[in-house]
Amino acid sequence: MTVEVLQNELARLEREATGAITQAQDAAVVQTLRNQWLGRKGRLASLLKALPELPPEERPTFGKRANYLKETLSSLLDTKLKELSTQAAGGVSPIDLTLPGRSPWLGRKHPVTLVMDQTRDIFLGMSFSTALGPEIETEFNNFEALNTPADHPARDEQDTFYLEDGRLLRTHTSPVQIRTMLAQRPPVRIICIGRCYRRDAVDASHFPIFHQVEGLYVDEGVNFRDLIGTLELYFRRMFGAETRIRLMPHFFPFTEPSAEVHVTCVICRGRGCRTCKETGWLEIGGCGMVDPEVFKAVRYNSERYTGFAFGWGIERIAMIKYGIEDIRLFYENDLRFLEQF
Ligand code: DAH
Repeated sequence: MTVEVLQNELARLEREATGAITQAQDAAVVQTLRNQWLGRKGRLASLLKALPELPPEERPTFGKRANYLKETLSSLLDTKLKELSTQAAGGVSPIDLTLPGRSPWLGRKHPVTLVMDQTRDIFLGMSFSTALGPEIETEFNNFEALNTPADHPARDEQDTFYLEDGRLLRTHTSPVQIRTMLAQRPPVRIICIGRCYRRDAVDASHFPIFHQVEGLYVDEGVNFRDLIGTLELYFRRMFGAETRIRLMPHFFPFTEPSAEVHVTCVICRGRGCRTCKETGWLEIGGCGMVDPEVFKAVRYNSERYTGFAFGWGIERIAMIKYGIEDIRLFYENDLRFLEQF
């Protein structure tokens, strides 16, 4: 066989095959055509059998053409098959609409943020507004104006991070009381939620960075009952309607009288358990009536005005509310922990 004959055969095969593919009406026909021309015993294969009969210099050219035809037909067949299945699906491309979608990965709020948000909401609901202060404070705002003299244990360097310029990282949110009273006249009804710092050794209940909420209400005629009612409402909203509080006599330099706030243990509901050390009560924070010495520092008339103040740790609330036994979990950013809120 000469190369001319073979070339003509290839050309004929191409014409016939192209025509047949165009006319094919269903997938089975397409498959048959594929076997007929491109299969192991198909027409292209039998043409290629003649290859050894060609003079050696003609073989590569013919081989190349044959391969090219094979690829062309193969892709024509593929395209036809796709076309047919699109038609079968009513002209719509065959996308599986029943495949479940990919849901986006949702972030969540940190438990400390959840408690801060809820705390803010509860106090806004009682007509408090929010106040802010800087985390770097003066000794005056953080201690002196709060009636905490220089020899008070709270000013021990052990507890406070001092900066070189004599300022410090605030050890509580109470200095925001001072800032607010220096900036406005009564009535004052604010809360401040913010970050505080203490040089504490880290353990299950201490971390050098933590958050507090501070409250201050000053007006004519504000009394201790107002304080109790405010605290009761907050803790019932935070821990549930059955929650009760009690106030135990205590000392804080900036309030007189001062009290420690206890709530009924949320774990055992007051019956006594490991968390509340069998007392049925959990210590939460401090409160009291604003000390006249504090009013003096901000030049409020303590004959005319009275006020109450309170403060406690946000992490402590979150630990009680969510049953978390180690404060360090809040700052490890372990997703297995954070995903639970
Ligand atoms: N500042 C106190 C602390 O960090 C908490 C506190 C106690 C705040 C009594 C107050 C208060 O406003 O009246 O331990």
